[in-house]
Amino acid sequence: MEQISDYLCRYKNYNFPVGYTTTEYIDSLQSFEIRDSDIFLITYPKSGTVWTQQIIISICELGGGLNEYPNNYEQMPWLEYREGRADYSLRPSPRLFSSHLTPALMPLGLKDKKAKIIYVMRNPKDNIISFYHFSRAAADLESPKTLEHYFEEYMKGNVLASSWFDHIREWHSRKDQYNILFLTYEDMVLDLRTAVTKICTFLGKNLSEAAIEQVVEKSTFNNMKKDPKANYKFLPETKLKGDFMRKGNIGDWKNHLTAAQSERVDQLLQEKLGDMSLKFIWE
Ligand code: PPS
Repeated sequence: MEQISDYLCRYKNYNFPVGYTTTEYIDSLQSFEIRDSDIFLITYPKSGTVWTQQIIISICELGGGLNEYPNNYEQMPWLEYREGRADYSLRPSPRLFSSHLTPALMPLGLKDKKAKIIYVMRNPKDNIISFYHFSRAAADLESPKTLEHYFEEYMKGNVLASSWFDHIREWHSRKDQYNILFLTYEDMVLDLRTAVTKICTFLGKNLSEAAIEQVVEKSTFNNMKKDPKANYKFLPETKLKGDFMRKGNIGDWKNHLTAAQSERVDQLLQEKLGDMSLKFIWE
């Protein structure tokens, strides 16, 4: 991996955090054996990953047969980081994985459309703000000097997981190759129940109305904030300062971005993804 800053290294057009993985391991993922029962949650960072983890885990728990892990981070680990865990091929089924990777880095076996993928997208203006705050709190990311500086780096894709615009394009344009459900963070905020029901149907879990309500309750912002398995308080302060569960709403960008910055996001969105007929909810 080519180290491009104190905090980021680059491999196959993708920015990884320094010290979390190796080229050998990332290359090995190409032949990582996929099981029919595997469930992958794929996102660009700060798009609602931990929220969707909670929904998927709660659905699978109620559906029965899920092995217990101490918290959601271990229950649904990042595919690209092993972090001292036993080989993922030894995990009992059903295996749940999270990932911020792009299609080119994912196991080729996913293209057999057996395993299920849920992809969550968040509008890029709120994504920038959430990522900015997270970068100030996370010890393994470069703490931005100013939002202005961070905004420029984000627009160039000089952040963890590279460019938001490329991530969206690469996954959306290849959707026919995978068994994939696309959701947006904004739709989840506006109607969590419908999102939970969609995820249930996609996962083939036939939950009662009462069970669906239980999943919704467990996955509200306020309840997750209190849930020790979901609120990421289990990470030591030396890794993450402050609350992972920050605001959890739509439109916080209006409190932070200038009109000129907002327009630049609109322009880049048009330039990079204008042909893809994506719909965004901004507030
Ligand atoms: S990460 O680090 O990539 O895994 O982050 P990720 O989980 O993708 O995104 C974190 C943002 O999701 C918000 N969040 C929620 N919003 C609404 N409802 C619920 N239940 C919820 N859970 C997490 C979290 O607060 C981060 O957004 P911001 O805007 O920073 O608050």
